[in-house]
Amino acid sequence: MALDAGFLAELGSVLSEDEVIHEGDELSEYGSDETEDLCFVPQVVVRPRRAEAVAEILRLAYGRSVPVTPRGGGTGLSGGALPVRGGLVLSLDRLNRILEIDEENMVAVVQPGVVTQVLQEEVERRGLYYPPDPASRGSCTIGGNLAENAGGPRAVKYGVTSDYVMGLHVVLADGTRIQAGGRCRKDVAGYDLKRLLVGSEGTLGVITQATLRLIPLPAHRALFLAGFDSLRGGLDGVLAVLREMTPSACEYLERAAIEAAAAHLSRRAPLPGSESYVLMEVDGLTEADVEAQMVAAGEILDSTGAAEVIAAVSPREQEELWGLRRAAGEAVKALSTYKEEDCAVPRSRIVDLVLGVKEIAAGHGVRTICYGHAGDGNIHVNVLRMDADDRTWTEELPRAIEEIFRLTISLGGTITGEHGVGYTQRRYLPIQLGEAELDVLRRIKGAFDPRGDLNPEKVLPDTGQGS
Ligand code: LAC
Ligand code: ZN
Repeated sequence: MALDAGFLAELGSVLSEDEVIHEGDELSEYGSDETEDLCFVPQVVVRPRRAEAVAEILRLAYGRSVPVTPRGGGTGLSGGALPVRGGLVLSLDRLNRILEIDEENMVAVVQPGVVTQVLQEEVERRGLYYPPDPASRGSCTIGGNLAENAGGPRAVKYGVTSDYVMGLHVVLADGTRIQAGGRCRKDVAGYDLKRLLVGSEGTLGVITQATLRLIPLPAHRALFLAGFDSLRGGLDGVLAVLREMTPSACEYLERAAIEAAAAHLSRRAPLPGSESYVLMEVDGLTEADVEAQMVAAGEILDSTGAAEVIAAVSPREQEELWGLRRAAGEAVKALSTYKEEDCAVPRSRIVDLVLGVKEIAAGHGVRTICYGHAGDGNIHVNVLRMDADDRTWTEELPRAIEEIFRLTISLGGTITGEHGVGYTQRRYLPIQLGEAELDVLRRIKGAFDPRGDLNPEKVLPDTGQGS
């Protein structure tokens, strides 16, 4: 579908020339995010510098029924930022100002294009802390984190993005501006729209400003890596620690994940010979507190059969270990064509999940590599093609995935803990949600975006009747 010349002229009336891309190779860069090898080229991309322009752009697009796909850092893993129906990509990357850090009320007011790590470093200089830290924190944006309700390793102690959202400025599909919440720690006036909007994956509105809660910075940290000689050993270790204390991160990696990450970074894998690993961090306001936690966690891991434990003492050593963990996703996916799943279960069932995934994969002749946020019961399951033939990949893979999700649901879990439903997972949503729940979701979508042009083809399963 060609873009209406009249629409381009209208965009030109609210944006300067360098804020609009409507031809050339650059367009296709906005056709993909970090999800598999999908690409849907938009007809036009806008990158406004003024927050006010967002409402104007949405109003113009609404007037001409142009599909609008909001985009943050483009690091999403469920295709949430893919312009599946073409139309307009609304990139929020230039709205990247930290507007205020209110130290007294301990809040930060930010635009959506602020890179998560930039915000973290800015508040840490003032002794404050914004904990949500997805693996892509160096390039993902707060807007994307809000859209997906991003988690990350520290969620086990500090919670996910929505736990830090106090207020939002939002533009609806037709250009209407609304506000939800603010700086009050308590506020029960009306329905909690900010909770609804966070995690709505850009399908209900476009966030143009967020007020985020900050906490005191736990200035001291210790990090250690434990190796276990079985696949389940690391998971049993995690559960034993969590019964006694709350570490600030509690990550699990099976052997192949750490080997892939090490190779990807041209490093040697630590604790060779282990079948599974736990990367555990403890933090606190004093060194003595951290040391006590470290000793306690070490003893528990020892008693659950850790073959070896190494501690990363200096900040540089800690950064190296974290670097290995953060590289796992990219490294595993570089091994082969892949399909990535993001299962989460009540954490007591995590061993059943991982062992069950292995059994299902073996039954379908595909390979999996599991790693993730064991402390939250959240495991990233990467199904890798490696040298599987076409039949296996096209016929067995979908069956394997469906079985993995059915197992996850039977364990009381969810088909996505933190990556979102987006485009790639929406077909699986009915495995988790019944018709009554899906109907409520559809009615909510209809109330915010009656024409369905805001981030279309996302979250809600395709009904086959156009959405
Ligand atoms: C991670 C991303 C994939 O935890 O969520 O590495
Ligand atoms: Zn993750």
